[in-house]
Amino acid sequence: MAGEKRIGILTSGGDCAGLNAAIRAVVFRAAELGWTVIGIKEGTMGLLSRPLQYEVLRPEDYTGNVLRQGGTILGTTNKGNPFAFPMADGSIKDRSEEIIGGCRELGLDALIGIGGDGSFAILRKLAQQGGINLVGIPKTIDNDVGLTEVAVGFDTAVAVATEALDRLQPTAASHARVMVLEVMGRDAGHIALHAGIAGGADVILIPELTYSIEGIAAKISRVRQDGRNFALVVVSEAVKTLEGSARQKEYHGGEKRFGGIGDYLSEKIAGATNAETRVTVLGHVQRGSMPTWRDRLVASAFGVHAVDLIRDGKYDRMVAWSNRQVIDVPIEKAIKEYQQVQISDPLVTTAKGLGIYLGD
Ligand code: F6P
Repeated sequence: MAGEKRIGILTSGGDCAGLNAAIRAVVFRAAELGWTVIGIKEGTMGLLSRPLQYEVLRPEDYTGNVLRQGGTILGTTNKGNPFAFPMADGSIKDRSEEIIGGCRELGLDALIGIGGDGSFAILRKLAQQGGINLVGIPKTIDNDVGLTEVAVGFDTAVAVATEALDRLQPTAASHARVMVLEVMGRDAGHIALHAGIAGGADVILIPELTYSIEGIAAKISRVRQDGRNFALVVVSEAVKTLEGSARQKEYHGGEKRFGGIGDYLSEKIAGATNAETRVTVLGHVQRGSMPTWRDRLVASAFGVHAVDLIRDGKYDRMVAWSNRQVIDVPIEKAIKEYQQVQISDPLVTTAKGLGIYLGD
C-alpha cells in the first residue's frame, strides 16, 4: 500500500495502568492507515538482544481484554541505560549503537516510546544519534512529566490511594487511631495531594512543602476538639525527615527506592499526640490495577494522536493533555519542565481551604 509504514512501539520505565490501552490505540489507528506495528519487548532491552525481541502487533489480538488490563503486555525496564550499560563483569559500556542497529534491522520508519521523563531523555538521545523518528507518549503514576496535565497511569494511582483512605477511615474511627498512608510519587506530591483531598485526609505531606510535628499535632488536636476520634494522614514517599533526609530502602543489587517515611512519622505523631498510630505503605498496588475510565480515555487519545503525528511527519514530539484536548509539544521541553506541585497549584489552595494541614 502506498505510504505504508512500519512503526515500533515500546514501554519504558516503571509500569502503570493504561499502558495496554495506549498500545491498543496505536495498533488500531495504525491498522486504519494500513501500517505495521512492531512491539518491542522490555523497552530498549528488546533492541539490545540478539536476536531482537519483538512481535508484530495485530488489531485482531486486541479486541478482547487488553483495554482493561493493567501492566504492559510488552514488558518494560527501568534499568540499563544504554549509554552507560552495566555489564556482567562490572564494567560500564556504551551500547547505544546496538539499539540503533536494532531499529535499522527492524526497518522502522518511526518509534513510539511510552515513558516518563527519564526514558524520554534516553530515547531522545538515541533518536538524535541514530536518526530515529521518535514520538513520545507520557506515562507515570507520579504525573511529573512537564507540559501535560496528565500522564497515563496517574488517575488510576490516585483512585487506588483514595480507595485506601476510604478503607482506612472506618477502621481508624473504630479504634480511635491516627492512620498514616504512605504513597508513591517520587519527588512530586501529586498522588498524595489529589488522593488526600478526595479521601478526606486531615494532613497531607508532600516533598515540595516543609512541615513540623508541632503543626501536625496541632491539627490532630483541633480534630479531637471538634469531637472526632481519628485522623487520616497521607505522606508522599520522598518527604524528608525533620533531620532533612529522604528515607530510602536498598534492594538486591544496590537499587535504592524511597520508603520508610510513614513509619518515621507514625512514631513522631504518636509521641507528640499520644495517639495510637498505624502505617499503611501502599506501594506497587498503585501501579498494578485495571486502568480507570479516565486513564483508558487519555491513553486511547494519546495513542491515536501519536500515530497521526507520524502520518504528518512530526517527530521529536510528545503527545500531551491540555484544556480538554490532546496536543503535542517538543519532547525536549517536556523533559526540562519537570512538574512538581507548585505552591500556586489550585489544589494547594483547595486543601488549605478545607483546613487540611499541608505544612507551615
Ligand atoms: O516512578 C514510578 C514509581 O512507582 C515511583 O512512584 C516509585 O518511587 C518508583 O517508581 C518505584 O520503583 P520500582 O518499581 O523500581 O520499585
